[in-house]
Amino acid sequence: MIDAAKPISSTTADNTFGGLIRNSIALIRQQQTPSGAYPASPDFSAYAGYCWFRDGAYIADAMSAAGEIESAERFFDWCSNVLTSRNERIRRIIDESLAGRAPVDTDMMPTRFTFDGAEGTDDWWDFQLDGYGTWLWALAEHSARHDRPLTAWAEAINLTIDYLACSWERPCYDWWEEFSEHVHVSTLGCIAAGLERIAHTGLIHELLAERAASTAEQIRRHVQSEGVRDNHLTKWLGTDTVDASLLALIAPMPFLPPHSPVAAGTIAAIEEQLTVENGVHRYLADTYYGGGQWPLLSCFLGLAHAAAGNRTRALELLEWAASTAGENDELPEQVERHLLDPNHLQPWNERWGSSAKPLLWSHAMFIRLTTALGIPHDTAGLTPASAPKENAK
Ligand code: BGC
Repeated sequence: MIDAAKPISSTTADNTFGGLIRNSIALIRQQQTPSGAYPASPDFSAYAGYCWFRDGAYIADAMSAAGEIESAERFFDWCSNVLTSRNERIRRIIDESLAGRAPVDTDMMPTRFTFDGAEGTDDWWDFQLDGYGTWLWALAEHSARHDRPLTAWAEAINLTIDYLACSWERPCYDWWEEFSEHVHVSTLGCIAAGLERIAHTGLIHELLAERAASTAEQIRRHVQSEGVRDNHLTKWLGTDTVDASLLALIAPMPFLPPHSPVAAGTIAAIEEQLTVENGVHRYLADTYYGGGQWPLLSCFLGLAHAAAGNRTRALELLEWAASTAGENDELPEQVERHLLDPNHLQPWNERWGSSAKPLLWSHAMFIRLTTALGIPHDTAGLTPASAPKENAK
């Protein structure tokens, strides 16, 4: 057990978390497909065979932060292929939207694709905008972190900026693929963070950068006027409840300055309403899987605390996330230690089996929090990534 009251030395942290960090990186390397896609969860029936823009972008960011440059870039190549191979369709969406004839939700871009970039045949809650902002953000972060040019992804960046600029105001499904009738504040924040970050790289065309920056500015004003209540961000525009996905907008995506009053208010509301013994729920009315606790959300809360200067609290949350690892160090999507509505667990288990495990996004957020805390990563001797090097830049 770590004594959270004392600052942890990096040697202690390394001993405590080193194996899980190494295994997490190894798992993501092994699971990444030759096309660059990151499977959300290789064996969970509803997710098998698909890669999400949202999960994938956070996984790429974690791999990039851990020094896994090639893995991150292979994912960006996958995103780029998904987008550029739909160039005509995306341009049509943009033209129609600008002409006041915005396509229906089912004609917008999906949230997930098969590993070869197709759309798959299963019905899904597909119209979600956040992942398109998050991939731009992860790519721009990566480029700045490792001093990498953006030339190889220029067309995809251009398409994404134009797509988001004409669609950000639309209601769509949220991070949890629910409530498509609302405009979600975490979705808006992910879009604005991506547009702002890419605009300020200095590596994209000036006019495009201006379009991205001015759209981000409009989103920011919209959130300030309709997405803040009682000094915290809200789950969607016009409510006063919170959702743990809002934490991502403090860190790793600094849509809110981490020391600002609204960031502090958002952390406080999520600690108070959604956190039980360091395990974090998605939102109070959650019933999916009985409303369990998500290790990846404890990591997002840890990242927000770390950015706000509270390393001790961040370490407690990291430790809790690590405690959810099961056999072979696999991290699940969620655990049932504390449920918001236990009646929903059994029907869920009957329908789906047990919680998705391993969930690559959980591993990624665990890695990302350790990098934010400066805990060393020893990947010497790990099997190299299985796929061939593509698009060396
Ligand atoms: C979650 C999404 C996630 C997807 C794949 C869904 O259950 O709600 O946020 O992107 O699983 O991990």
